[in-house]
Amino acid sequence: MSKAYNIAVLPGDGTGPEVVAEGIKVLKAVAGKFNFSLHFETFDWGGDRYLKTGEVLPESAPDQLRKFDAIYLGAIGHPDVKPGILEKGILLKLRFELDQYINLRPVKLYPGVPTPLKDKGPEHIDYVVVRENTGGLYTGIGGISMKGTPDEVAVQSMVYNRKQVERCLRYAFDYTKKRNKKNTLALSGKTNVLTYVYDLWERAFHEVGEKDYKEIKREYYHVDATCMWMVKNPEWFDVIVTGNMFGDIITDLGAITQGGMGIAAGGNINPEGVSMFEPIGGSAPKYTGKNIINPLAAIASAQMMLEHLGEDKAARAIESSIMNVTANKLKSMGAGQMGYSTSEVGDLIAKGI
Ligand code: IPM
Ligand code: MN
Repeated sequence: MSKAYNIAVLPGDGTGPEVVAEGIKVLKAVAGKFNFSLHFETFDWGGDRYLKTGEVLPESAPDQLRKFDAIYLGAIGHPDVKPGILEKGILLKLRFELDQYINLRPVKLYPGVPTPLKDKGPEHIDYVVVRENTGGLYTGIGGISMKGTPDEVAVQSMVYNRKQVERCLRYAFDYTKKRNKKNTLALSGKTNVLTYVYDLWERAFHEVGEKDYKEIKREYYHVDATCMWMVKNPEWFDVIVTGNMFGDIITDLGAITQGGMGIAAGGNINPEGVSMFEPIGGSAPKYTGKNIINPLAAIASAQMMLEHLGEDKAARAIESSIMNVTANKLKSMGAGQMGYSTSEVGDLIAKGI
């Protein structure tokens, strides 16, 4: 019997709905071909709904989402809503409530995609960042005192416990093993300054690695040096594991080396629960409704979602179709510069399946 999956769709704000529509187009094409079915249910959570109702996210949202096999998200962020409200109230809230403690972000340059890195091609840029996704500076512990006075003090703490660190490291080791490329896991930290938090990470890294993953080679880089090598020698990397804030920063750098926000995809993973897949760029409000935004990041997130659901062949079919289109069709990755509209790019990928 063929498998059936229930997918919650959160198109969100700005160009989110446009790119999600192309992702769904491709998902339907691939499901038909590989003999499984997908049932989509759409939720209107985002900036427009917040402006109309005053509610950022219904209380019941996490419980509603827990019933699905996966969540497919477009973008969160609205020009008329103060920055932070929707990001914290929807995106971060869901990551935390659903305990999606891994943010998996592949950095892979597809053929034909321009990279700002001189003399680097697809053979050099192919690694994955495993970003811890629910701890560290994002925990939100801190406060402001004497606000508005010259003596004002602000504190925001980087908080990690051993359990959080260890489950993230184990995921990264397992992922490196499964990926089976260079079998090398690099910890990116800052043990020379953050001598408590990254000391914990580093000790856990070597303890877990030594005990249970002897076959995986371990490397360590300070986060600032990581940035340097991601530009100079990206081919050194296989899998990088790091904390939440560093992971946020280095994955934007990684994204631009693989062609930018039009192509970079990510998964918010709870290995024991429900995971959420999203293009890592924002809602790009100025391009909304113009049918010019690049949907490849959303399509690549759909690919990651299928991989996560165990539909490996279907996922690989999407990836080859993406590669074929980047190599042979698109002029550039930027909105309005692809030589095709958003929906035409979706059609090209769907047809290539
Ligand atoms: C990301 C984004 C989010 C983050 C923001 C929008 C809260 O930058 O997914 O990388 O900081 O995690
Ligand atoms: Mn980010």
